[in-house]
Amino acid sequence: MNPFSEKTMEQIAAIIKKYPEGKHKSALLPVLHLAQRERNGYLSVETMNEVAAMLNLEPVEVYEVATFYSMFNLQPVGRFVLEVCRTSPCCIVGGEQIMDYLKQKLSISEGETTPDGLFTIKPMECLGSCGTGPVLQILEKFYENLTEAKIDEIIADCKQQHAVLN
Ligand code: FES
Repeated sequence: MNPFSEKTMEQIAAIIKKYPEGKHKSALLPVLHLAQRERNGYLSVETMNEVAAMLNLEPVEVYEVATFYSMFNLQPVGRFVLEVCRTSPCCIVGGEQIMDYLKQKLSISEGETTPDGLFTIKPMECLGSCGTGPVLQILEKFYENLTEAKIDEIIADCKQQHAVLN
């Protein structure tokens, strides 16, 4: 496995520095986010073990956190993880239809990744934007008041980003 980049290591060091000696466990969540981003969007056991070593924790302390929060992926995912809210307020305004449309458009089911490795559909509990549902999230970006036309635009946009970066 490739080591973390210099930039990521600097960011991790800056996060750790915010906490007093012996309290480095507090850095775990932001460090896991950085680790996940650097390691193709998911946390393997090896990556979690590396994080444990960096923070002077037992590996199980990292597994406990990584398996608790739904924002961490423990299996390989696509380049774009479409996190779709499946909680009632979004469902009332069409969240289920949006999920069905996405599944049909990408020809995959929830939790699956397209064969080209570009998209994963991930059902999520409330994303905290209930007034603007249906909602989906890709990394830090929210897409709100979704319609099928907006889904088409989002998918096209992701494909274009991918083409530019490759
Ligand atoms: S219910 Fe969908 S964002 Fe809250």
